[in-house]
Amino acid sequence: MRSILGIRIKNYRILKDISLGSIFAPAMSIGQAAGLQSTGEPLTPITVVIGRNGYGKSTLCDALGFIVDCLKSNAEEACLLRGGFDRIISEGADRTLEFQIQYGNLLYTLCIRSDKYNVPFVYAETLSHVASEIGAEGSMNFFVQNGVGKVVRPHAAAEDIRLADTRRLVLATLGNLTDFPDIVAFRKFLDSWYLCYFSPEAARVPPLVSAQRHLSSRGDNLANVIAYWEREHTDLLNDLVNRVFLDVLGIRKIETFAAEDGRLLVRFYERGLTKPFYTSQMSDGTLKLIAYLLLLGDPVPPPLICFEEPENGLYHRLLSVFVDEIRGRTDTAAAAGKKKLAAHSCSPAQFFITTHQPYLVDSLQPNEVWILEKGEDAFAKIRRASDDPIVGNMVREGMPLGALWFSEYLDK
Ligand SMILES: Nc1ncnc2c1ncn2[C@@H]1O[C@H](COP(=O)(O)OP(=O)(O)OP(=O)(O)O)[C@@H](O)[C@H]1O
Ligand SMILES: [Mg+2]
Repeated sequence: MRSILGIRIKNYRILKDISLGSIFAPAMSIGQAAGLQSTGEPLTPITVVIGRNGYGKSTLCDALGFIVDCLKSNAEEACLLRGGFDRIISEGADRTLEFQIQYGNLLYTLCIRSDKYNVPFVYAETLSHVASEIGAEGSMNFFVQNGVGKVVRPHAAAEDIRLADTRRLVLATLGNLTDFPDIVAFRKFLDSWYLCYFSPEAARVPPLVSAQRHLSSRGDNLANVIAYWEREHTDLLNDLVNRVFLDVLGIRKIETFAAEDGRLLVRFYERGLTKPFYTSQMSDGTLKLIAYLLLLGDPVPPPLICFEEPENGLYHRLLSVFVDEIRGRTDTAAAAGKKKLAAHSCSPAQFFITTHQPYLVDSLQPNEVWILEKGEDAFAKIRRASDDPIVGNMVREGMPLGALWFSEYLDK
């Protein structure tokens, strides 16, 4: 499976220049492939970021959301949602927001600037493949700067492209044309990233009756997603209830029904009780864990899922259930040999998680954990827990990573 091997973010608030994982050397001109030379070890399917308050964890998640917003609307809208370009650009920076994503052998670069009217626009955007893959079926590159550029298809001459609207991504435009299957695939991948900002209050408001496959970012369609599982994944829902909900939440049955006024309600049946509870009566943590488990149990989950401090409101011992379910959704699930994995098979996903909770990192490996720190220049720095050989040795000897963090071996 293709996955994100590395990410670089420049001039995005406190993240003046941080890199996670491996990034290939970018193509220097059109038609040239991205170099084979890469920096760092690739990202693992689970990337967990820790660090003190104000060190950039939320900013990192928001930077991922910013890229998605640029794709779904445009650079100007993405900046407006965050208070404008000047609120985003790092102080004293060269006024270019820059993002690089290494996705398998594909390197995508996006640079945003603001024009003389302070309107953000796409200053440069490139998509290139590593040399070994160039010319392979479907492998294509594009390069655009200041609204003009070229797109290259395998075994074909480069074609000129000229943008009518420089606020929109080339990826959004070419990624909708069947002539460019490689670009379409990458656009779809970015388009399906899921950033979880679950709100129990939002989930408690009954939505109108409909079955919806994907949970919204705030979870306000939780009832619709449960209705979808009832209709499309009856066995999976029963499996999830019997395997996890009953054990960790004491819920033996879950069902939706339509109220007369067209709203969709959910009934939760607790062990030992005959009368159900409704969503409005369920606790914050219960709703949150149910939403997380439905999200993780989707047979085709989003390819990238980002959780910000998922531990908030969850009982600490339930975090291992959450991490186990995440393991069950990654390529390494079989190797990990974890118990309690879902009975069904599903597509693997990749995870970005920020946390303050040592229990959450207890079952992680050092190469899965990244530590944000603040440099003397007041901007963030990031390093991998596995960079420290002492940490690696102690984990090999059986010390859980969370305990090491608690004992100040990871950050001080
Ligand atoms: N434009 C900017 N340039 C530089 N630094 C900025 C900019 N905007 C915000 N910051 C800094 O980034 C910090 C916010 O970081 P962020 O919210 O990502 O921290 P966090 O690690 O999520 O913290 P917490 O653990 O409290 O949630 C602010 O406190 C501020 O110091
Ligand atoms: Mg935060």
